[in-house]
Amino acid sequence: MSKPSTATTDLAYQQCINPACRATLPVQQVAFACPSCGDLLDVVYQWDKLPVPKSLREFEAKWSRRLDPLCFSGVWRFHELLPFAPPEKVVSIGEGQTLLQPANKVAEYVGQKPGRLFLQYEGMNPSGSFKDNGMTAAFTHARMVGAKRVACASTGNTSAALAVYCSATSHGFQAVIFIGSGKIAYGKLAQALDHGALTLQILGDFDDAMARVQQVANRLNIYLMNSVNPFRLEGQKTVMFRVLEAFGWEVPDWIVVPGGNLGNSSAFGKAFLELKHLGLIDRVPRLAVINAAGARTLDELVGNRHLTWNDGLPDTQITKGYYGSLDAAGVKADTIASAIEINRPVNLKKCLRALDACNGLVRNVSDQEIMDAKAQVGAGGLGCEPASAASVAGAKKLRAEGIIGPDERVVCILTGHQLKDPTATVAYHSGDPQQFEKVLGSRGIHHAEFRNMPLIVANDIEEIVRTLEPNS
Ligand code: F0G
Repeated sequence: MSKPSTATTDLAYQQCINPACRATLPVQQVAFACPSCGDLLDVVYQWDKLPVPKSLREFEAKWSRRLDPLCFSGVWRFHELLPFAPPEKVVSIGEGQTLLQPANKVAEYVGQKPGRLFLQYEGMNPSGSFKDNGMTAAFTHARMVGAKRVACASTGNTSAALAVYCSATSHGFQAVIFIGSGKIAYGKLAQALDHGALTLQILGDFDDAMARVQQVANRLNIYLMNSVNPFRLEGQKTVMFRVLEAFGWEVPDWIVVPGGNLGNSSAFGKAFLELKHLGLIDRVPRLAVINAAGARTLDELVGNRHLTWNDGLPDTQITKGYYGSLDAAGVKADTIASAIEINRPVNLKKCLRALDACNGLVRNVSDQEIMDAKAQVGAGGLGCEPASAASVAGAKKLRAEGIIGPDERVVCILTGHQLKDPTATVAYHSGDPQQFEKVLGSRGIHHAEFRNMPLIVANDIEEIVRTLEPNS
């Protein structure tokens, strides 16, 4: 196997994750799969030649320089930990101003002691989801290589973020978006349309759209913004840096994250591997990746079919066998958590590496568990969309199994904003039986234990007062 050489003299380069290949590519090359073997690519750094801080505390100095856009961004203030781009090429819209919220009511629901459960609220990003962390990095790379037309397949949030980065920056980027038919929550579709993205509704689901966008990107030389783009994941590492920052640089016990295309979990694993390698942390947290029951490829492969990272050589027959059985039975992903309605996660291998590095595990949660957890996050936290609540439902399950201890410090990642999917939320709370059946009942959700139903009151002051104070 040829090992191209120039890249290895660069301080940052791309490298195939397959240990039997390890082909390297310069940062400036646009490739979303290894040209030699087709496997995933990583962005790799020669850390010993780069100016990396001796302690994570050094990043705090940047807080006083927040008029500098690179210090203001919650991604680029960690630039030294994703040093692939010159500062003048950075494309930023002020992403990553997110926070870690202690959430005691949610802790009680999960079964954690007070002060032991935290919600990392990535819905605070400009486009309302964690995707902005990755987009800023991928757009920066696109700018470095002079790309103009950028595309993604999406269950909604990637497309929303992509559309925002095109509309809110002035580098001439044009957005092309592939979505599955009827598979996207209204809040997200609204964003894509409002921000002027060229939107293609493919007559198929996300897995179909993902396959097509990769073909089209190759054929028409369009820059691909999905998480097979390794630069996206560099930006998403910073979610973990901010979690550590919020804990005064202490490492929590658990990170619990929803799993769809498995970009986040992959990025988090890479972040911790690198921080450990650099001596900036002395231990890594455990990682729990939570699938929806109707899109549980990772859970099936890892939990039942014992697929492991295996030093970079996972048994591909296991995955092929499972995909073959899905095709034979005509099974498509199906969950109310449309953001993670994915059966063929493109970052599967990298996620296996993350699970290996972080003593990780996988669970699946039902749509009922997701919607109940979501209502609890709304009642006791900053709110989230259904997919995000899978993390809280998963933490509850792991607590009930005794795997997470009640004293352990647990961080659930809330990946997307509550207003992304108002249809699911209103169907859960409104008490309208038809709406409930149409949106939720058809997916096996039969009750709304945490419903907060609006009260219908006559347009009459006395009746309103009686409703508010029935005993007075
Ligand atoms: N949560 C939300 C709100 C998402 O939008 C996604 C993915 C995930 C979780 C899963 O993250 O792929 O890193 O495992 N949404 C993608 C999209 C697929 O197209 O917006 P992952």
